[in-house]
Amino acid sequence: MQKKIAVLPGDGIGTEVTRGAVEILKAVADRYGHEFQFNYGLIGGTAIDKTGHPLPEETVTLCKDSDAVLLGAVGGPKWDHNPPHLRPEKGLLSIRKHLSLYANLRPISFYASLSEASPLRKEVIQDADFVIVRELTGGLYFGKPSGRRVEDGQETVVDTLVYHRYEIKRIIELAFTLAEKRRGKVTSVDKANVLESSRMWREVAEEVSKDFPAVELEHMLVDNAAMQLIRNPRQFDVVVTENMFGDILSDEASVLTGSLGMLPSASISSEGPNLYEPIHGSAPDIAGQNKANPIAAILSAASMLRNSFSLEEEAKAVEAAVESVLEAGYRTADLAGGRTKSLTTEQMTEEIKISMLGDE
Ligand code: NAI
Ligand code: MG
Repeated sequence: MQKKIAVLPGDGIGTEVTRGAVEILKAVADRYGHEFQFNYGLIGGTAIDKTGHPLPEETVTLCKDSDAVLLGAVGGPKWDHNPPHLRPEKGLLSIRKHLSLYANLRPISFYASLSEASPLRKEVIQDADFVIVRELTGGLYFGKPSGRRVEDGQETVVDTLVYHRYEIKRIIELAFTLAEKRRGKVTSVDKANVLESSRMWREVAEEVSKDFPAVELEHMLVDNAAMQLIRNPRQFDVVVTENMFGDILSDEASVLTGSLGMLPSASISSEGPNLYEPIHGSAPDIAGQNKANPIAAILSAASMLRNSFSLEEEAKAVEAAVESVLEAGYRTADLAGGRTKSLTTEQMTEEIKISMLGDE
């Protein structure tokens, strides 16, 4: 299989962890006989320094010409006092818009060998394995009108929650498609006891479910979902929800298994390539020290293999290699918990590569 991959390392540890992810993708290409072409683009603070823009036009063109995009992270104290249009995060928001990324997938998996890192008791978090699918283009964050005004002499503020039926339908279909390949359960999270938008959300979920007879649909109110994630995370397979509920629940879910350096994400496009990135930031406190955990970036690459290229076997091989390296006791500093000897970014990448190629 031939694929063009746009690589946007970004700032700080973004460059270090994407290097690791590219290493692993190259090893996958070698082992399975694929041809991956890597083309590099600028984004974030590094792009501002070199071109004066957080997202240069060439980067947008490069991404649109590619089969998938791998992103590191953007940001850092150096650019914190820049005006809004020259902030690194602006690059991230613009690329999401340019690529029409409408859904963010955050898989949460439990690693037995890291059970001490979770804030939950082992019996509660053990074997949890679910995906949160968050809608990204609609809802309260984009609805108009939004702003302040004076009404009858009272200072008043308004935000508006808007959804179009097609936006709800496409994200719920995505959730069902995912569930079909997983354990066959969709939990649709809403606030249908109060919000009309949630009542339409529920209606659409029921309609879509008719096309997926093998998948079970359950509705859950968002306040209950926030509690259930902590009380019994094992009950979930695919959780789908609107923008703001998803923002909150995905951050809540991301701490359940323990380490920021472990968690990948995928943003799905309605028309072009998808974008894959670790959920962590540029970690200025450890940048340039070859200390960052590359696993979140490497698992994002695995997600690319699965979701953009349909290379399920290859994706599983990468995930299995990560798991076996952790089981063997290898740790980067963030996972080492005071252990004197921990692996560098490069060493961790190398161990994962060896583990993946080992059983040839
Ligand atoms: P952060 O995720 O960069 O770091 C939080 C803490 O976790 C730090 O102590 C860091 O050393 C540690 N950490 C993060 N990833 C790690 C990894 N792979 N291995 C080991 N340790 C890791 O979040 P923070 O500090 O709030 O933000 C730093 C910068 O990153 C800011 O400029 C922020 O705007 C940006 N950021 C960018 C994101 C993106 O590009 N998607 C997401 C979040 C923050
Ligand atoms: Mg958030």
